[in-house]
This record gives sequence, C-alpha cells and structure tokens, in this order.
Amino acid sequence: MFEIPTSTKQHDESRQGEALLLEKDPQKSNGRKLYIESYGCQMNFSDSEIVASILLDKGFETTRDYKEADVVFINTCSIRENAEQRVRNRLKEFESAKAKNPGMVVGVLGCMAERLKSKFLEEERLVDVVVGPDAYRDLPNLIEKVDEGSRAVNVLLSREETYADISPVRLNTNGVTAFISIMRGCDNMCSFCVVPFTRGRERSRDSQSIVKEARDLFDAGYREVTLLGQNVDSYNHENTNFANLLEMVALVNPLLRVRFSTSHPKDITDEVLYTMVKYDNICKYIHLPVQSGNSRILKLMNRTYDREWYKERVDAIRRIIPDCGISTDVITGFCSETEEEYQDTLSMMDYVKYDFAYMFAYSERPGTLAAKRYADDVPEEVKKQRLTEVVDRQRQHSLERLTTYVGKVHNVLIEGTSKRSDKDYCGRNDQNTMVVFPVDERYKKGDYVRVYAETCTSATLIGRIIG
Ligand code: SAH
Ligand code: SF4
Ligand code: F3S
Repeated sequence: MFEIPTSTKQHDESRQGEALLLEKDPQKSNGRKLYIESYGCQMNFSDSEIVASILLDKGFETTRDYKEADVVFINTCSIRENAEQRVRNRLKEFESAKAKNPGMVVGVLGCMAERLKSKFLEEERLVDVVVGPDAYRDLPNLIEKVDEGSRAVNVLLSREETYADISPVRLNTNGVTAFISIMRGCDNMCSFCVVPFTRGRERSRDSQSIVKEARDLFDAGYREVTLLGQNVDSYNHENTNFANLLEMVALVNPLLRVRFSTSHPKDITDEVLYTMVKYDNICKYIHLPVQSGNSRILKLMNRTYDREWYKERVDAIRRIIPDCGISTDVITGFCSETEEEYQDTLSMMDYVKYDFAYMFAYSERPGTLAAKRYADDVPEEVKKQRLTEVVDRQRQHSLERLTTYVGKVHNVLIEGTSKRSDKDYCGRNDQNTMVVFPVDERYKKGDYVRVYAETCTSATLIGRIIG
C-alpha cells in the first residue's frame, strides 16, 4: 500500500483529501482506475475508505492523478457555505480532464450530494452520479448505469446501514493510526446544523464488528484507533453503551491506544470518564464542542445544555481525569448573538483553557431549523471580527496549556518523521498534542517512546527521547 501521512485534523473543510494509490490485484482487475478525494470531517474520510473497498472488490485499481482516472469521485461536505463552494471550484478543475476523456465518470458523494440530490445534475453538467452517504453499496450498479449512457442518483438514507461488514481499505495511512466509524447519522437537531439532514438518523454499529476491526488493525501493525461518531456518547447497541464499548476496545491490547470523537456535553457520562481513567491506553483527551458560552444562544442552537451544565461537565473531567486535554468547537455570530452574549463565549474559553479549538463564523444552511426560524442578522464583519478575537484568545490558551506540558515526560506514539524535517520524528502525547523530537535509530514508527518536552509553540511540543 502507498503511504501518505495524513493529519488527524477534523472538521476542516479546507483540507483536501489526498488521492490514493493501491496495488492492483491482477486476478480481479477490470482495468479501470478510480480517483477519490475527500472533504469535511473524518467521517467522510472514513466513508471514502468504504467506497474504495467496494470498488476495489469490483476490480478497480486506484490512481493519485485524476487526469488518468476512469472514475473520479469527490466526497463532499455541506457543513458551511464555503465547504460547498470549494467543491464547486474543484469540479471546474475536473472539466478539462473530462473533455479529454469523455468516458470519464464523475461522481459526487457525501453530504453535499445528499443535500442537493438530483439538483446537482441540473446545476453541474459535468456530474454523472450523485450518491448519498448511505447508498455506497449501490456504486458499482450506478457506474454501470452511467456506462450505459444515463446519469444516476441514489440518495436514499437508511435507518440500518452501518457498512459493518465492509472492511475499509486504509487510504492515506501512516500505518500507525486509523479511524473506526462506530455509528452513523445524528438525531440531535442542533438548529445550525445540516448533518441530521445529510446523514440521516442515528444508528450504532454492532460492537463485535468494531472490536474485530480494532483487532485486525492491531494485527496489521496499527497502534492507535479513533472511534468516530457525531455523538459517541449516545452509542447504544444491544445494551452496549459507549463506556462499555470503550472498555471492549481498550481490552484488545494494552499497546493499542484508543481515542474517540465527538463527545456531546449533554450526553458525556461519568461512567465514560471513569472508564478512561481505568485504562492507560485510553487517551486522556476529550473533544467537547461548546459552540457558545451563553445559555440563551445555546437554547436557540438547540444544544439542550446551558452554560452551567457545560461548566459542570468540564469540572467533572478535571476532577476525574486531572491531566485530560480538552478541545472544542466554537461558532461566532449565531443568529441574534449580542456583544455581551459573545463575551460569554470568551469567558467560557477563559474558564476551560482549551488545548485546542476549531472556530467558525456562523454560516446559515438551507433547511436547518435556524434557517427556518431565525434571522441570520449578525453582520458578516461582526461575525468575522468575533472570530478573529476568538482565534487570538485560543492561541494564547493553547500556548498556556502547552507550556504546562514543558519540563514533563510524555508517552508518545511515533507516527513517522516530521513534515518539516526527516531528522525529526513526530507523534502525539496522551492529550493529543503533537510532539516533535530528533530521530533515534533505536526506535521506529509505531513504537512508544518517553519524550521529555523541552520547549513548545502554541501547537507543538519540542523535546527529546529519554527512553
Ligand atoms: N457532531 C459534532 C459536530 C459536527 S459539525 C458536535 O455535535 O459537536 C463540526 C462543527 O462545525 C460543529 O461543532 C460546529 O462548531 C460547526 N458548524 C456546524 N454547522 C455550522 C454552521 N452552520 N456554521 C458554522 N459552523 C458550523
Ligand atoms: Fe450537528 Fe448537533 Fe448532530 Fe453535532 S450533534 S452533528 S452539531 S446536529
Ligand atoms: Fe461535512 Fe457531512 Fe462531515 S456535512 S462535517 S462531511 S458529516
């Protein structure tokens, strides 16, 4: 398999998925080449691995160059307006390749496909197939339809589909860390959010298939898995709750690190926190999106917790897991947010001192509760100015947090050599902070090392191996 290091950054629609290159199986080959590119959250990147698995099974091979592909897929995100704009721009770039190779099949997958459905075919002449997140099993059949001269759409959402039986083909892998999708969809209906519409109802995947996937990854040399869901705390499959699942995966092997994302403040239980404490291999890191620090705005957002509740959950984390890293998502300029209410978000940030945050200006999404009920009335420049302040404040907090890690020894899983220099290794500590340190030939990718942190920036710890 071809190795391309990937970042574990989530929710960043600006990131463009690398294409992939996989060895072909001469027995199965149909001689056609697939190119796939992913946008949006880690869920989408995981789904692309399912899609690749389905098509490789039908004899496709893969390419990293869309210009030489027979099938070009773009797995899309709808979370904010600019995420969709980026996809439209990218489609334009595919036009000349298709003009040179008219037999090329261009498919739009994922959340934007689900949101726009057949409208996509009307709006973008280039597109041959539109496929929603629950319809990937139908892809071979849809490609066949296009080969026969039609354009094809399948955007049916499912209450059951979890792709549990499909073994994802690991794309862009560093061979050490991997993602396991444990559930799909979302039932929460946060008023700003398009996900419940693009991904459908929440459903949990069979726990045994999750444990098996973790075990297979471990056997293949992987040393870290991240359990993925829009709200992992509401995982529930045949009386297995999220704390139980976490324990089952932690027990696969003490050398397999376990992470998870995303936790919902309304649902994260003390049972989960105590399970994290019980196992050294469950990383001490929680992504706990706050969105806003103001209770009135949280109510309008339909987040179903208020400021006090959120603070209590943070207090519980700090009490039960004193060394836990906490990160968050913040939205600035949600409908009717006043200056004072926005200040509550800043003061919440001061209260928690997040290690890291993803921060966004509110972007109205068609069809959401907020779009139907509330006016998007905070001027764009106010949203942006609040965002800039929030970003600045977070940078200070990240630096403060990382400074507390300096002078300490960290347990780091080596993910590979650093992007900047092949003389340095990089990997993450328990709290999910990136750590960079000089290569030591006695250790290799996939090994755990103890690293003494000597200094830091607001994003990275810099240190040396002490054994
Ligand atoms: N399931 C996760 C969030 C998934 S979407 C959760 O509940 O926290 C990732 C992030 O994108 C959200 O946490 C939110 O901060 C941001 N986001 C979602 N919709 C948005 C919108 N319409 N405008 C701006 N940011 C948005
Ligand atoms: Fe969207 Fe809320 Fe579901 Fe997260 S929990 S995916 S923000 S609806
Ligand atoms: Fe985007 Fe869909 Fe994920 S809207 S953030 S790709 S669930």
